[in-house]
Amino acid sequence: MTKFRTLDDLGDIAGKVALVRVDFNLPMADGRVTEDSRIRAAAPTILELSAKGAKVLLLAHFGRPKGARRSDQSLSMVIGAVEKVMGREVMFVPEIAGPVVHQAAGIMRPGDIACLENTRFWPGEEGNDPELARAIAADADLYVNDAFSAAHRAHASTEGLAHLLPAYAGRSMQAELEALERALGQPEKPVAAVVGGAKVSSKLDVLRHLVTKVDHLIIGGGMANTFLAARGVDVGKSLCEHDLAATAEAILDAAEAAGCTVHLPYDVVVSKEFAANPPSLRRCNVHEVAGDEMILDIGAPAVEALGDVLKTCRTLVWNGPLGAFETVPFDEATVALARTAAALTREGSLISVAGGGDTVAALHHAGVAGDFSYISTAGGAFLEWMEGRELPGVKALEQ
Ligand code: 3PG
Repeated sequence: MTKFRTLDDLGDIAGKVALVRVDFNLPMADGRVTEDSRIRAAAPTILELSAKGAKVLLLAHFGRPKGARRSDQSLSMVIGAVEKVMGREVMFVPEIAGPVVHQAAGIMRPGDIACLENTRFWPGEEGNDPELARAIAADADLYVNDAFSAAHRAHASTEGLAHLLPAYAGRSMQAELEALERALGQPEKPVAAVVGGAKVSSKLDVLRHLVTKVDHLIIGGGMANTFLAARGVDVGKSLCEHDLAATAEAILDAAEAAGCTVHLPYDVVVSKEFAANPPSLRRCNVHEVAGDEMILDIGAPAVEALGDVLKTCRTLVWNGPLGAFETVPFDEATVALARTAAALTREGSLISVAGGGDTVAALHHAGVAGDFSYISTAGGAFLEWMEGRELPGVKALEQ
């Protein structure tokens, strides 16, 4: 059930000024955007509002300038990439409120698109200052939030504005919320979660929440070592947070109490040094890791068994790689399990949702990003959602 208004609920907006919060926090190198999926994600909303005759004012943050103007973090740098995706001219306005924005809105024609300056140049943005929000809202008739990936921030442009103007979820926000609802809100069961990445400490709350929600929790990456060590396995010189042994035990106990099966690797790929195709690479049972070796990936038999687990499931949520996937051949487990998940999704037996920067990169690397049911553009917001937390930007839209 949709708890928020979407663009389907808009009346006649011809000539009205629509403030649209997007996420243009884009990877850049030498002043150029290197990856534009967040622009592409926002394009349907922007173009739909423009086609309906709104004057579209885009609001976004870029980087963490901490309330000061910084020329190297001006949103003027992304205009070219935005225009390319939109196939339209996009005006740049070097302010977010006040006479300059007022004048720009005045000269824009219905359907025109403009991008305002980096909201984080103003301290009131991160402080969620009602006065700044009121000043931004002054020239607008409605507010659309299409930035799920920034919805974990209670900032003026992501939260405050939703209380001051008629507020709507954009198409990308809507798709994201609907996909996440299908994945953990009201999922088809059984549900599996894959959680990987280097450190348990960064995902403790994710793991604590997931064990109460999913039937199978597959733990990979460096964080699996912490669980293995807690279980008494000698992980050699693997990345491992030994001080979190008790916490890992508590998570395993909570999983057992909740009826969630935790899958830890039982065979692994190890090496004495962390390098591509190292001469000391070998594959062994998890109980045979030598003192001078480190675990860098899950072994093929264990990955096959994990694939069999996915075959029994209807829903999958994935965050984090299973091994040190950026260095060959420690990408093999992630690639193999991602391909199994993709094949099951194509067959229609699995709903698969993935999110987080590393995860999306890993799925692209495996060549299966297009086969997952939904891939979130969010990093921190996706993690907070996996922790079961209420995202302020989403909550504000629901009111
Ligand atoms: C992101 O890139 O994940 C979002 O834009 C949020 O950025 P932030 O972590 O700087 O708030």
